[in-house]
Amino acid sequence: MISAEKIPNNVNLSDNKRLLRALEHWQPKYIQWWRDMGPQGFQDYHQVYVRTAVSVDPEGWAHFEFVKLPEYRWGIFLADPLPDRRIGFGDFFGQPVWQEVPGEFRNQLRRLIVTQGDTEPASVEQQRLLGQRCPSLYDLRNLFQVNVEEGRHLWAMVYLLHSYFGRDGRDEAEELLERQSGNRDKPRILEAFNEPIDNWLDFFMFTMFTDRDGKSQLMSLSESSLDPLSRTTRFMLTEEAHHMFVGETGIARILERTCQLMKQAGYSEDVRKIGGIDLPTIQKHLNQWFSLSLDLHGGEVSSNAASYFANGLKGRAKEDTFEDHLVKNAYYTMEFFEEGRPVTKDVLMRNAMNEVLRDWYVGDCAAGVTRWNKILEKHGISDRLRLPDRKFNRHIGMYSGFYFDPNGVPLSKEEFDRRMHEWLPSTADSEYLLSIMAEPIYEPGKFANYIAPPRRGINQLPIDFQYVRTEQ
Ligand SMILES: [Fe+2]
Ligand SMILES: [Fe+2]
Repeated sequence: MISAEKIPNNVNLSDNKRLLRALEHWQPKYIQWWRDMGPQGFQDYHQVYVRTAVSVDPEGWAHFEFVKLPEYRWGIFLADPLPDRRIGFGDFFGQPVWQEVPGEFRNQLRRLIVTQGDTEPASVEQQRLLGQRCPSLYDLRNLFQVNVEEGRHLWAMVYLLHSYFGRDGRDEAEELLERQSGNRDKPRILEAFNEPIDNWLDFFMFTMFTDRDGKSQLMSLSESSLDPLSRTTRFMLTEEAHHMFVGETGIARILERTCQLMKQAGYSEDVRKIGGIDLPTIQKHLNQWFSLSLDLHGGEVSSNAASYFANGLKGRAKEDTFEDHLVKNAYYTMEFFEEGRPVTKDVLMRNAMNEVLRDWYVGDCAAGVTRWNKILEKHGISDRLRLPDRKFNRHIGMYSGFYFDPNGVPLSKEEFDRRMHEWLPSTADSEYLLSIMAEPIYEPGKFANYIAPPRRGINQLPIDFQYVRTEQ
């Protein structure tokens, strides 16, 4: 049984009996889902050193404690309201923001919230076997931190559905626990969230690139005229930043170790012989998750995106840095691909909003790759990682159904199929990764051979602290 006190919150949950009842009904199903679909083998006998958000101020979410995962206190937090907040874009620009859902936008808003909400439990499901192959206790703890926060993000979206969407919202909240990542009959809504993540290279690439799509989406939703949605997503962004930290530093540590092993192997580059992850394999996984995450931003030309913008539901990342917030007569120059060749065309900017957000995303990813390349540079290695062209390996939007290499050069389907595993992970690559991750490392302070230790531990604790412990 839940009580308002057991759910840390800043939404006056104890005063809202109707909402409390709705959550009381949903919560046991959530816990059952967490047990069935959450981290496998770490539910009952392990204590994990996690951070629990207990309020939205900086001290309030630096609260660390050992908990059993199913007993994590999933809370409901909205960032503080901004006084006299006004609608920042679209046809209602300058009007006061909404505290309730306008009837005419109810379906669109519900769809946006459900689509965002669906990704949260999906990623927990995708990652549920990783604990049994972890490279260290430090990483195991980070995985679980990400997992419980994705669970909290689900709570955040379910809070909105229960609070503002009545009966439909309650039904949607149930369905969020019924769809399953990779399930043939009831898959998750978006494709990248149906791909399995069974090795740690994929996990780090996912948290680097797919959680960063989460950041894109949350930034654009945090601009929303629906103030509770804006405030919820603003707080989620603080947690999302940590997920990307896990991904970026995870790959950085693999690169660091790969460089050390390359040196050891006499720069023959065959670091697989000594148990490392070679740069071409890292690049292939980067290609895979970057291209899947580009797809998550939707079609390049989209009347839905135009309508979300016009209605003030979903803005651009950092809307206040743009000059024109109405964007009625502006155009976006886009590269189309017609009859085998690129053609440049102008598209009404409102219809190109997915592409505008994708531009922001690509820039944010590129900055991360530049930071990774500094590691290679520091070790005197001339290879560099790079983002593939945005036309490469796309399954959504105008490039889907066409074939390109990572430089964006068009290819026939036959040639793409023949050369695909030069650019994307093969079964042999996956098997190799699983072989070096077969034995989990649960000894404090020890790290798998393919990854360097982090620079520092969690919450100023030493790196060899026992971040996950079994109960005596
Ligand atoms: Fe999330
Ligand atoms: Fe995340």
